[in-house]
Amino acid sequence: MSTTGLPKAVKIVEVGPRDGLQNEKQTIAAEIKIDLVNRLTAAGFPNIEAASFVSPKWVPQMATSTDVMNAITRKPGTIYSALVPNMKGFEAALAARVDEVVIFGAASEAFSQKNINCSIAESIERFREVANAAKQHGLRLRGSVSCALGCPYQGEVTAEAATDVVRRMRDLGCDEIDIADTIGVATAGKVRRVFEHAAREFPLDQLSGHFHDTYGQALANIYAALEVGVSIYHSSVAGLGGCPYAKGATGNVATEDVLYLMQGLGIETGISLDAVVEAGQFISTHLGRQSSSRAGTAIASKRAA
Ligand code: HMG
Ligand code: MG
Repeated sequence: MSTTGLPKAVKIVEVGPRDGLQNEKQTIAAEIKIDLVNRLTAAGFPNIEAASFVSPKWVPQMATSTDVMNAITRKPGTIYSALVPNMKGFEAALAARVDEVVIFGAASEAFSQKNINCSIAESIERFREVANAAKQHGLRLRGSVSCALGCPYQGEVTAEAATDVVRRMRDLGCDEIDIADTIGVATAGKVRRVFEHAAREFPLDQLSGHFHDTYGQALANIYAALEVGVSIYHSSVAGLGGCPYAKGATGNVATEDVLYLMQGLGIETGISLDAVVEAGQFISTHLGRQSSSRAGTAIASKRAA
């Protein structure tokens, strides 16, 4: 902890290549995704979520995951993660040399059905085999708890329900667990309560905050989580993204905005904000639209002036 009571350093996990791009309607060539991941690697991220080995019928944009993983320039020490819903996905992820397998379950029954076509309890049983296989192969295992702070179908999700899935993921052997605000509805007080509750069951320094920014609350939510002592955050370059099964949900909090906040607070990330701004401009230009990062746009405009 720093003198302000906040962590001195945080780990930022860049999820743009996966969470950011998975919902894009236009087909993005593998070469663009590879270029993006390489730029993010060069920017200094310790962990990049680069791929998703889910069914291409469900999420067509991620069908190039093997090509992406096979062609990126890996930096030793950087962790390249991928979503893995079942053993079919695990085999593909293993062959593509992912460093970290991400299993993802919801804290709400309705969302679990829509997203992965089974109940919460069934999903945990499916993940058991994946978790064991990851451990056997010496891979890191991360669990992501979707709708931990609100659900598009049932609305309110209690801290107890979120913590119950955290506990189940802990018991599967997860090294890290994400508390995800899939639809970006949470506000700071709720974030504080849920993280404090979850930290009773899983070490606080292995819990991460995954905030979408639908209601513009993500930075305030990160600050609330920093005050609790959370030191791992997910973000997406240029604020890309949205979950295909969470209607109306917008992208993750923009990485540039998070880095700007951390820089101002004197919290170390080891990442070059300038390099991320450039990566954000690169992908936004390719997608043919403005970056949704406020800090990224401001810094790029200042540079161009
Ligand atoms: P299912 O249809 O119930 O399962 O899907 P299935 O086993 O009956 O398989 C159906 C077909 O998919 C079969 O093909 C399988 O071979 C194939 P067919 O025989 O019809 O030709 N298949 C696969 N193909 C490639 N890779 C695989 C795979 N698995 C099955 N791994 C399943 C169940 C979970 C697979 C499906 O529902 C699925 O892939 N869902 C995608 C969910 C997803 O990716 N959601 C978005 C990511 S989660 C997210 O964004 C939230 C997060 O960011 C945190 C947050 O913000 O909350 C992480
Ligand atoms: Mg997400």
